[in-house]
Formats: sequence, C-alpha cells, structure tokens
Amino acid sequence: MIMCGIVGAINGSRVVNELLDGLKRLEYRGYDSAGLAVSHNNSILIRKAEGALSNLETKLDLSPVEGRIGIAHTRWATHGEPSIANAHPHRNDRVSVVHNGIIENYEELRACLEAEGFTFQSQTDTEVVPHLIASLMASGFSPEAAALEATKRLQGAYALGILFEGEEEFFCATRKGSPLAIGHGEEAMFIASDAIALAPMTQRVSYLENGDFAIVSQNGVCVRDENGTAVERPVEQSRASAESHEKGSYSHFMIKEIHEQPDILNHVFNVPVQKKQNCNMAYEDFESLSIVACGTSCYAGQIARYWFERYAGLRVDVDIASEYRYRHSPLPQKGAALFISQSGETADTLAALEHARLQGQTIISLVNVPESSIARASDHVIQTLAGPEIGVASTKAFTAQLAALARLVIAAGIARGTLSIRDARALKVELSRVPEIVSAALSLNGQIRAAASVLQNSQSALFIGRGVNWPLACEGALKLKEISYIHAEGLGAGELKHGPIALVDGNLPVVALAPPDELQEKTLSNIKEVQARGGQIILISDERTLSGLDFEPAATIAVSAELDAPFASDLVMPFLYSIPLQLLASETALKRGCDIDKPRNLAKSVTVE
Ligand code: F6R
Repeated sequence: MIMCGIVGAINGSRVVNELLDGLKRLEYRGYDSAGLAVSHNNSILIRKAEGALSNLETKLDLSPVEGRIGIAHTRWATHGEPSIANAHPHRNDRVSVVHNGIIENYEELRACLEAEGFTFQSQTDTEVVPHLIASLMASGFSPEAAALEATKRLQGAYALGILFEGEEEFFCATRKGSPLAIGHGEEAMFIASDAIALAPMTQRVSYLENGDFAIVSQNGVCVRDENGTAVERPVEQSRASAESHEKGSYSHFMIKEIHEQPDILNHVFNVPVQKKQNCNMAYEDFESLSIVACGTSCYAGQIARYWFERYAGLRVDVDIASEYRYRHSPLPQKGAALFISQSGETADTLAALEHARLQGQTIISLVNVPESSIARASDHVIQTLAGPEIGVASTKAFTAQLAALARLVIAAGIARGTLSIRDARALKVELSRVPEIVSAALSLNGQIRAAASVLQNSQSALFIGRGVNWPLACEGALKLKEISYIHAEGLGAGELKHGPIALVDGNLPVVALAPPDELQEKTLSNIKEVQARGGQIILISDERTLSGLDFEPAATIAVSAELDAPFASDLVMPFLYSIPLQLLASETALKRGCDIDKPRNLAKSVTVE
C-alpha cells in the first residue's frame, strides 16, 4: 500500500527538470524514496534513489537522463519497505508505471501474472500494473487499449501515470479514488497529484473524475469517462502559487512557520476583506454540527466544540475521520458536517465527507488548499489562509484553523441569537489582539530551552489541561511525539486520577497548561498531585500564577494576556498557549538531533485510508 505523489510531463525537448520541480512540490506526500522514468530513443531510462528527493538529484547528476516524455514519483511506503527495489517507477520491458493509492487485489493478479511467467522485483502492489499491461499488449491490445483494459481489472484506489517503451508521442493517466490533475502548458502537457506541483509549469489545470482514462500528448489530452464516453473536463485557472518554498533565514520550515503565525492571524482577524470570508451560511437552520478531521486538524475541531457550544448554542460532535463513517451514528435531517483539513487531500476525511453527503448533511470544509479534493467536494468552503505549510508537523495551519473557527463561531452565535452584538464585538476586539500576544510568546527562548532540557532525555511525557486546554494538551503531545519520537499523551487533567497517575515517577515530565481561567484552581490541584508523587512539572501559565506557587516546578514558561472581556478567555488562550507547545516540541526535537521538517515514517498529506 502506498501513498505518494506522481508527476508526468511531455514537451518538445526535455522533461527531467519539470519532473523534478513537480516532485519537489509533492514531497509533502512522502519522502521514503523517489524515482523517474523517461522514454527516449526507444527505451525507458529509470533512475531511483532511497530517501529524500535530493538523493535522486545527486544520482541524476552522476548519471543523467534525457527525454521529452516521462513520469516520476515520490513515495511513502506502507507496503514494502522503503528501498530502491520498492521505489517507483515500476517497470518491465515494455511499460513503466507510477502509482498513488492501493491495488487491493494485487495478490490475486500477481499470482496469475507469475503463472504467465512474469517475474517481480518488488514487494509492492503497484508492480502488477506494468506486468498486467504488458500481458495484455502481448495478447494483441495496443498500448493505450491495454492500459485501459488493465485498469478495469484493478480493485482499490489509484492514480496512475503509464509510459510505454518506444512511444514518445503520448502517455496514459487514469484515476479512481486518488486525485489527479492535468496541466495544460504551452506545447507541453502534465499530470500531477495536485495543482500545486504543476504551478511552476502552468496555471491552467483540469481534474480527472473518478474512472476517467486520459491519453496525454504534447498538444492536449483526450479523456474518456468510466463508460468510455469522450468527455471534456473544464480547464480552470489554478490559484496555486509558483513561488518556490524557501526557508529564508530560518534553519527549518517548521521554525519559519511557527514565526509566521502573528502575520497570518493578523490577516485573519484584522484585515477587513478576510474577516468576511464565507460566513454567510444559514447557521440558524442547523440542528447540530458534526466536526470531522484527523490529527492536529481534529484537535482544532475539538477546541472549537467548546466554542460552538458555549457561544453559538450549537451541539457539536467531533470525530476522527477514520472512525466517523463506521459509527453508524444517526445524523439529523438538518445537520451540518464540517471537515477540517490542512491539505484537503486526507483520504479518511474525504471518505467521511462522502459518507456525510449520503446522509444528507450540508457539507462545509475548512481547508488550507483551496483547490483540494475536499474543497471541491464541499457545499461551503472556508479557507484557513495560512499559506503553504511545508513542515510535516502542522503549526501555522493549526492556529489558522482556530482563527477561522473562532470567526465562524461568532458569526454562528450572532445568527442563532445566542451572542449579543455587544458580546460579539467584545470577542472580536479580544481576537484582534491575538497577533500581538502570539508575537510576544515567540520570544520565550530561554524558558523553552530550560523546559526542553527536562524533556530531552525522557522516554515518555504527559500533557494535561482542562476545558479547551485538554485538546490543546493533546496537540502538544502530538507535536512532541511526531518530531522528537518521545512518547507523549494528552489528557484532561481531571482524568489523571482515573489511571494515568500510576505512570508518575521522577522520570516522567508532565507538561501542564494552566491559564488563569475558571478551571485554573482545579488544574493546579491536579498538578500538585503529580508533584507530590515526584513527577517533573513543566508548568505553562501566566506570570502572576507562576510567582504565587507554593511548589517548585522543574520548569516554567510564562505567557500572559490581559483581557478586557474575561469571558473571551477560552477563545483567546488556545492561540497563546499553542506557541510554547510548538516551540517546546521543536526545541526538544532539535536537542535530540531529529529532522523536525521531515520526521521519520510520516508524510505531510495522508492520501490512503
Ligand atoms: C500533525 C499533523 C497531522 C495532520 C493530519 C491531518 O502535526 O500534521 O496530524 O493534522 O494528518 O491532515 P490534514 O489536516 O491535511 O487533513
């Protein structure tokens, strides 16, 4: 099973640079290995390398290839270890293939093809595809007819790019389940897993529908739908930016993205035209709201649940997308479902969206990539406006999601009559100050370093908080574990006594979020319970609380915000408290020598279930 990024190109001269440019912009889909194939002088030339794309570039420098038609791939492996043998393109003498998705019936197909005499070089599901096409070509099918016929025999999800030996006038592309965009250039045509990959080459993009089969040549594309009918898919002007993604003066994208947050939040809360973005839904008609997402995006949804229920009187369920559609939950007739996704391509979230649509829900999505599959499948799209997020660990997209959700909550509260205009205005005033307090929190370096030293050599850590700080604690734990490989768990502070406190000893750091809110007293007494059992507390709170403690934490991080409307505390604090959590995770990971932009085993966008 593989989830990955694919690119294909045909032009009048040389495609290798375009293929590499496309792959660079798709590395967020995986970086276990990369490879490309070009068809030239009647043979297919392939280069592959393990690890990041730069390794493939080095290999190409040592052993260059030329060609005006080619396909390429960046891989995230789940089926078959990351290795050269399992890297794409997969091939036989006649056909070469790149694939994003999973071929579910590959074992059965492989057994038949082996019986026919084909030998397999990899452990992947993908390798059946070139052999199946070659087998059909041997029985008399033309290359494109063989490719089409082969796809009819595949079960599962796929986006495929298919290159034929000796054929330099066209390649084939098809999709079912996995997304595929077609780029329409000047006497050049492209395919890619998304429009972002195509942005340096062309802004003119069309999208294949499920079951479409395309023959791509230098001057255009012929598409047939799943019934074999010739169709035209509309060409749209992509808004994906061609700007290259650079780190500037920062050492890592994650650090850069953490520091971009004040500007992003300022844009959302203080630039008039953005404030209006897409809040014109009939909130008053919704009986309830289901929020569905994965990982960090789901924690943003869990924080927003507190807000929607408190300020908009709207009952909210929050589900992780991979469970939502298996829960058989009866959904209300006038229900709305909100799907939150940075990438807009997460397979679980997309599948959950389709489930909700079948149940008659109004589909709202909150995405950072406006042309993504999730955005295109929604009734209402709200953009997070965070700009491209390159670091695998989500930081700025998370706070931008919170910002969009906060605005949505206020609009819903006004529309539903649960928030007076006066209170709504007070909330907006407090939110308008968020960029400034977030900016101040970014200069906590000394305290962060001291706290990271407490975590640095630990095997495990707990993160605790109450109210909105519970999902925020879970997000802090997720950040730490994904980039530093320290096991971490986020808990509602009140749950500690129901089991997890058994873990506490002198080797267990407990990161506690205790802002000065109505739950602070209770959180502080949970912290003292940990302290009394020898746990090492890293306490994140305001200066006043920290200076009045009657115990001594192992480390403290002071963040402060003076609020004119104290009832806005749970709306404002998650922005502020996100910052030390992000900095703590990145600092700890750097101290441990981890690659914080590309943590092991992860990919930025999870395009298989
Ligand atoms: C964690 C992280 C992941 C994503 C999750 C959902 O830092 O980035 O947990 O939040 O994979 O991804 P999107 O938001 O693209 O649907």
